[in-house]
Amino acid sequence: RILAETRAFGKLILFGEHFVVYKVPALVGAVAAYTDCECERLCEPGLVVVDNRPAVPDYKVTKAAEADAALRLVFDHFGLDLSKEGFKLTFGGDLCCASGIGASAAQVVSLARALSQALKRPMSENEINAAGYEGEKGYHGTPSGIDNTAATFGGILKFQRTDGEPIFERKAIVTRMLIVYASTGITSSTTAVVGDIQAKKESDPLWFEALLQKYIALVQKAELALNAGVIAEIGQLMNENHELCQQLTVSCPELDRLVEAARLAGAAGAKMSGTGRGGLMLALTPTPEIQDAVADALKAAGAPQVWKTSFA
Ligand code: PMV
Repeated sequence: RILAETRAFGKLILFGEHFVVYKVPALVGAVAAYTDCECERLCEPGLVVVDNRPAVPDYKVTKAAEADAALRLVFDHFGLDLSKEGFKLTFGGDLCCASGIGASAAQVVSLARALSQALKRPMSENEINAAGYEGEKGYHGTPSGIDNTAATFGGILKFQRTDGEPIFERKAIVTRMLIVYASTGITSSTTAVVGDIQAKKESDPLWFEALLQKYIALVQKAELALNAGVIAEIGQLMNENHELCQQLTVSCPELDRLVEAARLAGAAGAKMSGTGRGGLMLALTPTPEIQDAVADALKAAGAPQVWKTSFA
């Protein structure tokens, strides 16, 4: 069951998690898995949530307080007062919630779509994205906006936060990009990890600036490789981005082990995706056979959940 009108995409960051917070470009790909939302009015005021989304163990418990805050922020954004009006939300879809797949953004964007329908308030995609961004603040504190933008628009996007509105553009998908992504089984806190990197940046600005400059050079090459659809080169640059994530201290032994296993099984490249210190990694695989081999290798390396997909 995917309620087409309310569906929102999951996403994987190809290049630039964490760096994107500091207003440099990132490249993100929406995956062909969705969250949707059914919205009913209730006679009593308040919020009732039925969450049928598949999830890795611990995800929903760990994120419960953030999820509640995020949903309420979307209601606020619509000018709805839950002490006066009542709604029942039922979330579903095939996107499996795990840190790093943008499940939080997909949830709030699908809610924005459902409210726009329920209230018969037609909204542009930019308005849906803006409502999703408000919700993301409940999960992330100060989100870059990359997740809700990918959840709303889909495709492969180049995204850059600015002092004003973010800038983003859709990249043409010139070659089919098969991917495998796998969870470490660890749910990480985006707010905590982003906050820690901010503190490290403040205590050692030169260290951070050197990494940021290396990343900027890398993402420029990555965009050219993506424009040309050269899988081998995109993969190599993903490997380099993973190294920068390690230096930024956002990877962890569990992610490194899975990244290594994917490369040994023939991936064109592999890296962590999203917050890190747990969460997800992704591998770019040149053929369906290699995609299968990488998925098997990741299971053998102990990943509790492994998914095969392509960018949507
Ligand atoms: O873990 P995710 O999928 O929510 O990704 C977070 C991405 C960060 O760059 C770490 C934070 C942000 O707001 O962009």
